[in-house]
Amino acid sequence: MRRLYIFDTTLRDGEQSLGITLNAAEKLEVARQLARLGVDVIEAGFPASSPGDADAVSVIAREVKGVSICGLTRAVESDIDCCAEALHAAEYPRIHTGIGVSPVHMEKKLKLAPECVLETAVAAVKHAKKYVGDVEFYAEDAFRSDRAFIAAVIENVIEAGATVVNIPDTVGYATPFEYEELITYLMNSVRGIEKVVVSVHCHDDLGMATANSLAGILAGAGQIEGAINGIGERAGNTSLEEVVMAVYTRRNQYGLEMRVDTREISATSRLVSRVTGVPVPAHKAIVGSGAFMHASGIHQDGILKDRSTYEIIQPEIIGGVCSTINLSARSGRHALRHRLQELGYQLHEEELEKVYPEFLQLADLKKEIFDQDLHALMGMSASGSNWITLKNIAVATSGVSTATATISVDIGANSCIDAACGNGPVDAVFKAIDRLTGIEVRLEDYSLHSVTRGSEALGEATVKLRSGDNGLVVGKGISIDVIEASTKAYVNALNKIKM
Ligand code: KIV
Ligand code: ZN
Repeated sequence: MRRLYIFDTTLRDGEQSLGITLNAAEKLEVARQLARLGVDVIEAGFPASSPGDADAVSVIAREVKGVSICGLTRAVESDIDCCAEALHAAEYPRIHTGIGVSPVHMEKKLKLAPECVLETAVAAVKHAKKYVGDVEFYAEDAFRSDRAFIAAVIENVIEAGATVVNIPDTVGYATPFEYEELITYLMNSVRGIEKVVVSVHCHDDLGMATANSLAGILAGAGQIEGAINGIGERAGNTSLEEVVMAVYTRRNQYGLEMRVDTREISATSRLVSRVTGVPVPAHKAIVGSGAFMHASGIHQDGILKDRSTYEIIQPEIIGGVCSTINLSARSGRHALRHRLQELGYQLHEEELEKVYPEFLQLADLKKEIFDQDLHALMGMSASGSNWITLKNIAVATSGVSTATATISVDIGANSCIDAACGNGPVDAVFKAIDRLTGIEVRLEDYSLHSVTRGSEALGEATVKLRSGDNGLVVGKGISIDVIEASTKAYVNALNKIKM
């Protein structure tokens, strides 16, 4: 069987484009989960873009083994030097370098003549080869470029030592038929192409990234690039999980072998959504919360008779399992650990000791604990060091005028209390915390959604804060009291800023 390599760019094309700054610990957590998922390559960042990114790439290179760790560069020597340094501890390092090849990129962005672009591309690959054996070249905006010209560029970078050649549809302009044609053309006309892996990298501006990637694979591409939940620039990258599940579900059609453990897909999607603060739409293919729900009477009747009437993927295959026991305030540690294990969380003794009281607190307030509650609980439990710890919240509101919030916190070893008025209770709480911390932050986004249904459902708050010129930091909080959930989210984001 032909092998399909899976290249994940959640931490590079996905993360950078959101304006969100994931800290190194969050990036490492995602990279570890991607390694569990079994992707072949993790593009961990763009080291020359910031010292924080360089640091995150080097931490991942040092800590995550058994998978290729890749860094992006422009076709610029200093970028390549910086990337090589960040990757130096990687078990399988890969440098991903490249340059724009379409007329608009060459004329308007680079202001370089095509011959000069070709020379720069070759020089970049040769420079990267001084550091690592595995060099991937990207021909940015390949889909909108002159075919004979990309063929010449690709042929020359292969001669210079590229091991993988990436043919991106950078602006999501292609349709499947045309993209398949482009890959077929390159497979048939570039000398030496049989020695390298051809990679497809698509964007979703016209909603065709998955279809285009599959078309490229049919034409002979051996690697597909994408991001979990399809996050990324503008309308996003190809959803990695969609291509993986298409190739898996239609394996008789594609006849491709992958290394991915599909049972890790749900856990990876949840983690990426939690750390980036980008929610997964309910109807999203494969990982949306409604992707396996059957609502209409006719469908439910069919499912009860035989699941295959309306189900092409069993939820267990992507790691979504059905409850075998109901948890409540009477459940012990053993039952909690068992259910968490079924949901994909492997807890050490100390982790269980930390999460169990939080579980009991929640179970005291809610009659039933659903899987979504446990995912939310685990998400909170995993996050955050504590520069500031929330102690108490008191809010007074008449419903017609401003609200007043009084907040007690511990900041380091000091216990402090302060109050503020605001336009509504959430605004008052955030203002009181700002008075307590003295940190200047800008609230860029705030959202609240219920984790399950009904009036006693858990509320999950997400805040995005910006401090100074830094990127956005995402904070999350859960509680059945929405003011408490919002306050916890704000405090969680502040703790990340102070990390
Ligand atoms: O979309 C694109 O062209 C890219 C390259 C930098 C690989 O992300
Ligand atoms: Zn891209």
